[in-house]
Amino acid sequence: MSPRLSFYVHIPYCVKRCGYCDFNTYTPAELQGPDLAAVSANYIDAVIQEIEMASSSVGNAEVPTIFFGGGTPSLMPSADLARVISAIREKFELANDAEITIEVNPDSVSEQFLAHMREAGANRISMGMQSAAPHVLETLDRTHKPVNVARAVEQARKNGYEHVSVDLIYGTPGESFADWKTSVESALALPIDHISAYALIVERGTKLAAQVARGELVMPSDDETAEKYLYADESFEAAGFTWYELSNWSKPGGECRHNIAYWDGSFWWGAGPGAHSYFGSERWWNIKHPKSYQERIAKNESPIQEKENLTPENKADEFILLQIRRREGILHSQMSSSQISLAEKFVSSGDLDRESWAQNKLVLSKNGRLIADRIVRELVL
Ligand SMILES: C[S@@+](CC[C@H](N)C(=O)[O-])C[C@H]1O[C@@H](n2cnc3c(N)ncnc32)[C@H](O)[C@@H]1O
Ligand code: SF4
Repeated sequence: MSPRLSFYVHIPYCVKRCGYCDFNTYTPAELQGPDLAAVSANYIDAVIQEIEMASSSVGNAEVPTIFFGGGTPSLMPSADLARVISAIREKFELANDAEITIEVNPDSVSEQFLAHMREAGANRISMGMQSAAPHVLETLDRTHKPVNVARAVEQARKNGYEHVSVDLIYGTPGESFADWKTSVESALALPIDHISAYALIVERGTKLAAQVARGELVMPSDDETAEKYLYADESFEAAGFTWYELSNWSKPGGECRHNIAYWDGSFWWGAGPGAHSYFGSERWWNIKHPKSYQERIAKNESPIQEKENLTPENKADEFILLQIRRREGILHSQMSSSQISLAEKFVSSGDLDRESWAQNKLVLSKNGRLIADRIVRELVL
């Protein structure tokens, strides 16, 4: 039987870098080019060549999901992304019901792009909404207007996308509770079946980090951020969305199958600069800079920067790390006896769901979801 292999395809370009973001993405100016078309020329050819390398190294595999992420995939010509889907279809067995997601930025997505990608097989859109409050978007250094999000979501639905998701960020400096309420309500007013909501992280080296260090922006307290998480969770649940991972809620059937594949230890191939892959017992990641990546591929060399072998212990730790974030939780039979006894105190403190525990399963309670990182550190270190 052929193995299952999901594909992540990285598009490392953005028109402008948002102040909080440290993703592996570049503006045309950062790549010393006049415009996007110039800096991204032949990029997709390189990605397709990597997909051919994947086919030689893995052999045949069934592909249940493809995810175009970035950066900003919606900046690429749709014909180019369609070529990537065709290459995967040609080299592997693309499942009939494959989930094919495209991350889009509300500013750069056109109806024509959506229509063409739908024809090419894409059936899920994930949009960076972040906030509905203009001053919060400004602090986040975003260029889009809230109205662009509603327009793009409507267009995606009109063009037959089965699944539409938005990303929200909470805990931006200056975001009041009322601002967050507005963002949650605006998201829930859209015809979507999935929401990701992340607390703003101050990543080292970003413009946001410098503004915080200089005291120009003040990050909210952990309590305030926790309150926003609890409010969002209650509102999403009341609107028919269920949490299925700490930062992800969906309507029934709207769970992102690609993300679930990452979390449950399935195999995936990440194509593009900086992309990570996992297959068999090996994990590897590609060289980070798009130019170096393209140079390597042009010489028919592997773009891999480094590889590591995962021991059974690594795999077990990783399983706990990812699976604890899921509503499905972890069976006691998947934990060591010392992990089970270490977890007992979190049952007493109400951070683990008592009912599930009694049924030999570790599932975070609502309060536990707020301290998931701490619980993991105790269980895994
Ligand atoms: C690649 S972006 C999404 C697509 C598109 N580039 C956009 O921003 O509209 C992935 C998501 O990661 C989240 N993200 C990035 N940096 C973050 C940070 N420092 N803290 C919290 N969330 C972050 C944002 O919600 C963003 O929508
Ligand atoms: S958040 Fe999205 S649009 Fe902004 S820099 Fe990061 S990848 Fe680009």
